[in-house]
Amino acid sequence: MTRRPYIVGNWKMHGTRAMLSEARAIDRAAQRHMKVEVALAPPYTLIHPIHREAEQIAVGAQDCHHADGGAHTGDISAAMIADAGASFVILGHSERRQDHSEGDAQVRAKAEMAFAAGLRVILCCGESLATRESGGAAAFVRAQLLASLPPADEMPAEVAERLCIAYEPIWAIGTGIAATTDDIAAMHAEIRALLVDLLGEEHGPEVRILYGGSVKPDNAAAIFAVPEVGGALVGGASLTADSFMGIALAASEPFES
Ligand code: PGA
Repeated sequence: MTRRPYIVGNWKMHGTRAMLSEARAIDRAAQRHMKVEVALAPPYTLIHPIHREAEQIAVGAQDCHHADGGAHTGDISAAMIADAGASFVILGHSERRQDHSEGDAQVRAKAEMAFAAGLRVILCCGESLATRESGGAAAFVRAQLLASLPPADEMPAEVAERLCIAYEPIWAIGTGIAATTDDIAAMHAEIRALLVDLLGEEHGPEVRILYGGSVKPDNAAAIFAVPEVGGALVGGASLTADSFMGIALAASEPFES
């Protein structure tokens, strides 16, 4: 990895104020791993309290609406999460795509809105088990990204800082079965080639590509050693400081040894 590894915790629908002590512990530990960029995406209700206290970690959201406001009961805009202290947003997670029928066009509209609000975007992609078994994973992920990413001429100028891709095969999320390092290497190479096609030689090689799906302290080092893996999007193992920082430690070791 040429840039600082980026380790992002996705707390999903976990966490009340009782979890603030865990966020504090993650923030304190992150201060000892300055060569790793650590970030947390808690539920909306915890964005502001964590942002207020955090000294090291960035705080983000797990979604935002594609409109900038209006009659959308229960929804929240990119500007609102930025106002609460979020500096990034995860978009197009497969749980959003499944539970809320989000399509690629909607994810693209959300990304445009998030960029306009000054946020960084972690855009998720990944195939189902049936697609992988049929041999169509690479074509699926390519098409999904092409349709979910804003066009190159509408990306922010500093796109390599503001955009990040997360490859999360659906069958690896929450199952305890991470993709093999060979499969991760092959897919990350595909995604890198696509980014270079879309964004050119200046920015395409710089956009970080995270892997997500059952990353744990005990498999993290092997995953971070894969070419083109720029960090991880971590669900279950981000809920305690111990396991999350075990992953951050695995990311920092190549730099500290
Ligand atoms: P997991 O989730 O680490 O629990 O597999 C990853 C994700 O969905 O972002």
